[in-house]
Amino acid sequence: MRIRGKDKVPEMLQKSSSLFFDPLHGMFPQEWINAYEALELEVGCGRGTFLSQMAAHHPSTLFIGIEKFVVIIARAATLAHEQHIENVRFIQTDVKTALSFLPQHSMQTIYLNFSDPWPRRRNDIKRLTHANHLAIYRQLLRVNGVLECKTDNLSFFEWSLQSLLNNGWMIQELDKQVADMAPNGEEARGKYIQTEYEQKFRQLHMPIFHVRATPN
Ligand SMILES: C[S@@+](CC[C@H](N)C(=O)[O-])C[C@H]1O[C@@H](n2cnc3c(N)ncnc32)[C@H](O)[C@@H]1O
Repeated sequence: MRIRGKDKVPEMLQKSSSLFFDPLHGMFPQEWINAYEALELEVGCGRGTFLSQMAAHHPSTLFIGIEKFVVIIARAATLAHEQHIENVRFIQTDVKTALSFLPQHSMQTIYLNFSDPWPRRRNDIKRLTHANHLAIYRQLLRVNGVLECKTDNLSFFEWSLQSLLNNGWMIQELDKQVADMAPNGEEARGKYIQTEYEQKFRQLHMPIFHVRATPN
């Protein structure tokens, strides 16, 4: 993802400050959690296109975005702020720190959308479907919670499937080409909400792979 407009970051952060949580402040506030029926998390939320659409469709759910780069997440929060979306929160951090501020077994769904594939073998550990990351998601998900992954990258997809199976996850649903139009009544499901990266890949006629898995 291209990183531009660093000079505007302080202004963007200030405008959208109500949508941010700083992990240095301890645990994610319980009053935010209590105000909603469910919590859902996107890891590597980028500029937040997916989260803002999901939040607009599901007002009784609180959507949390974790993103490691401040310039990118500042744009995500600005987008949500400009659209007057209130049921999103953004956290700038590496997901490996998530258990230090998010309550265990609190997430109904965790989304990994178009995660960086890190094609070189020595970078396996950075993949968001690596065993180390799956162990964090297992702790964060509720009993009936699910992990939803979408990618355009076949080798990353196959590697991720193997990683899920090796780590005891169960595959609930698998698509080798997600339709670009949702069937009737499914428009608001995460699988059919297109992310910023997805829109680019669809224009190039790339296949969109999807897997839903549960740790139980
Ligand atoms: C390829 S982009 C996809 C963005 C968005 N999900 C989409 O589909 O448009 C992947 C994003 O994940 C973020 N990311 C990668 N590893 C991360 C980590 N360990 N913790 C938090 N964010 C991470 C990157 O900074 C990048 O913005």
